[in-house]
Amino acid sequence: MKFFVDTANLDQIREAHAMGVLDGVTTNPSLMARENIRGEEACRRHYVEICRIVQGDVSAEVISTDFEGMVREGEALEALDPHIVVKLPCTAEGIRAVRHFAERGIRTNCTLVFSVGQALLAAKAGATYVSPFVGRLDDISEDGVELVAHIVRVYRTYGFRTQVLAASIRHTRHIIQCLDAGADVATCPLSAIKGLLRHPLTESGLAQFLADHARVNG
Ligand code: E4P
Repeated sequence: MKFFVDTANLDQIREAHAMGVLDGVTTNPSLMARENIRGEEACRRHYVEICRIVQGDVSAEVISTDFEGMVREGEALEALDPHIVVKLPCTAEGIRAVRHFAERGIRTNCTLVFSVGQALLAAKAGATYVSPFVGRLDDISEDGVELVAHIVRVYRTYGFRTQVLAASIRHTRHIIQCLDAGADVATCPLSAIKGLLRHPLTESGLAQFLADHARVNG
């Protein structure tokens, strides 16, 4: 399973990259706003900056909601760097844009997916990635991980090549559950990736090793 970090914060992206396990980055307009990045030009510069840090796929989301606007924005984003993946919402216009880009060999991430039906349309249109939002489904008492597993089953049964990118991951348990569900990618907050490392027996074991070494070696 590939690991993407779900942030537009350059320090966090650098830190995740330095861990040596980072395969890519996802951003969205809310994450860009959190970094106070204003205007098209600043957004583009920011995406280029992210691509300089990570030699992996970087999802950059369009703001337009109409087909023509999505195509215009997506083409401009894709031209920024070969690692850019155009992120499009799972709407009728978005699916049309996914098809448009697929026919031109431009990679897409179909986002805001909350049902198997939406994931089916994204795959049929030729999306590179489909992003089911695990945490947001859990927030409304639905089962986000079960949706990931369902999409994986359907894609495998019918041979769709679209990769299942589990998004809206909130904690380390989500990552492990998505691993079990067969997700191709999990995009996670840095805290969830770092959380995978944490185990009290690792910490106490290391402390004991160092104490024993110091006792004999001074
Ligand atoms: C990633 O592609 C999504 O935009 C992101 O994971 C959404 O996460 P959230 O539900 O925590 O905002």
